[in-house]
Amino acid sequence: TGPKPLAGKRVLVTAGGTVERIDPVRYITNDSSGKMGFAIAEAARDRGAQVTLVVGKADVEPPNGVDVVAVRSALEMREAVMERLPDVDVVVKAAAVADYRPARQATEKMKKSAEALTLELVPNPDILQEIGEWKAAREVGARQPFIIGFAAETTDVEKHALDKLKRKKCDLIVANDVTAEGAGFGIDTNVVSVYGPAGLVEKLPLLSKKDVAGRILDLIAVSTRPTGGNK
Ligand code: C5P
Repeated sequence: TGPKPLAGKRVLVTAGGTVERIDPVRYITNDSSGKMGFAIAEAARDRGAQVTLVVGKADVEPPNGVDVVAVRSALEMREAVMERLPDVDVVVKAAAVADYRPARQATEKMKKSAEALTLELVPNPDILQEIGEWKAAREVGARQPFIIGFAAETTDVEKHALDKLKRKKCDLIVANDVTAEGAGFGIDTNVVSVYGPAGLVEKLPLLSKKDVAGRILDLIAVSTRPTGGNK
């Protein structure tokens, strides 16, 4: 029920943390709960969109009524996202992608020894940046996804958000100051500001992640309207 401003739109959302294997029983991950991305997927669904949710590790159940694609590592997430890009209208990259992965994944459980162990890490691809580059290389007239990134910052939120928006060629960046009371991992509330190419678009107060998602999807709906959009 309610208005369906995203009817007919395909929205791809990534959520949760990625899991980077060390060996069959050990891995590196982060504190992402998946809650923000799931709320985004739900809000898109409620506005009539056909939603694909690419999810890594999450602490809660994904919403009903969306196509869930389960992945583990950043490399798997990248593949799941890139292969679907030609068919999507909106991409929201709310996942906490690990910046590094172990250079080698042992196929057998690693044995303990008396020696110190050094784990070599190599950088993961920046999926959001690859999406932006893919879009920039699209020919004119081809379907162009509207791209939204997230940025968790602890200092100079605006500066870092705008820098990411440019570097990753996004249309909007949702920035949260993870040091702010009521913002960040695990909890049900968030405090975010949304930035576009021209600077601050909207500064939201402390809200539930569901309400934050609703406000972000309303911005997306306005920005992707065929006529009168501010894209
Ligand atoms: O650079 P940073 O990790 O802070 O950027 C955050 C944004 O970039 C998020 O939208 C996140 O999902 C995305 N990201 C990504 N691939 C990475 C790292 C971040 O898509 N390897």
